[in-house]
Amino acid sequence: MFSILKPFIFKIDPEMAHDLAIKSLKYNFLPEEIFKVENESILETKIFGQKIKNPIGLAAGFDKSAEVYNPLFKFGFGFIEVGTVTPKKQFGNPKPRVFRLENDHALINRLGFNNDGLEKVAKRLQKNSPTDFLGVNVGPNKDSKNKIDDYLKCIKEIYNYADYITINISSPNTPGLRDFHDKNSLHQLLKIVTEFTKKNKIQKPLMLKISPDLANSDIGNVIELLKKFNINGVIISNTTDKNRENLTGKFKSEFGGLSGEPLAKISNDLIKKFYKEIKGEITIIGVGGINSGMTAYEKLKSGASLLQLYTGMVYEGPGIVKKIKTELVDILEKEKIKNINDIVGTGS
Ligand SMILES: Cc1cc2nc3c(=O)[nH]c(=O)nc-3n(C[C@H](O)[C@H](O)[C@H](O)COP(=O)(O)O)c2cc1C
Repeated sequence: MFSILKPFIFKIDPEMAHDLAIKSLKYNFLPEEIFKVENESILETKIFGQKIKNPIGLAAGFDKSAEVYNPLFKFGFGFIEVGTVTPKKQFGNPKPRVFRLENDHALINRLGFNNDGLEKVAKRLQKNSPTDFLGVNVGPNKDSKNKIDDYLKCIKEIYNYADYITINISSPNTPGLRDFHDKNSLHQLLKIVTEFTKKNKIQKPLMLKISPDLANSDIGNVIELLKKFNINGVIISNTTDKNRENLTGKFKSEFGGLSGEPLAKISNDLIKKFYKEIKGEITIIGVGGINSGMTAYEKLKSGASLLQLYTGMVYEGPGIVKKIKTELVDILEKEKIKNINDIVGTGS
């Protein structure tokens, strides 16, 4: 159905098309059965000790304000991450702020954390319990005087409704946010956050979502601090503000974060570097350019035990989850692999 609608959808402004998708998902009319995959049990895995059907998650940014996570589960995702949520409602940057680079199978966005704000999101999550494993991604408001305090506010308000919480330090569209990759700033952030969760007896797993543009010299510092503060996982990665040279789309020079196919290798390379140092000690969620069984397979081999995608779904529609799972099952069966976990890190 998506392939019939795609030429019409792609005539509409990308953000408007996204808003329409959210509106239609609210009707929740698609039957779960059409997204079922045979032999999916080979993909079964665990996230923080809890069983999930498969490692394919929806990345943050699609359901920013937690409006449609339950209908989205029907597409066959193993888990979903909503957000980024900020303490106060935020409109983000002026439009247009999302651009399709069709030939590159990529997007550039500079949305700037547009979302309905913490209070509304918490109410939605409270009223409408997630039917499956749900992470909530949190970040500071653009005009915040104390960004760390914004993370604490979000964690406090949201932890009851989340299976894990992601501390997002990697959007290129909130000025100064990526400064948290600096050793001293990250030390201060993780120290304050973990002291806060300890004091308030908050026991939810914490993830750190990082930038693919991290300098080689900073990787060791980030790993050291993840270990020091017992952070449960790292999401590699957010969008890149580099790698524009080989793009062909007319919007290639738009300011913002690049996602989709041109991000795949950059994130894989970073995952490999992290996996070498943290092998299984800290969970790695691999994100960036996943749009097929093979691209998912490459991320797993690089060292990610869980995956997320966003841009692939923009280009291929909701059927992409079924497609990836079917292709992945096929690859694993051909290689006589019994369970997906057996390939994690084997190519790093
Ligand atoms: C339109 C758009 C909005 C996004 N918004 C967020 C966000 O609010 N928070 C976040 O952590 N990542 C956000 N992301 C980044 C994605 O979660 C993901 O890390 C990135 O797009 C790479 O995955 P992909 O190549 O599968 O899209 C956004 C991405 C896109 C394309």
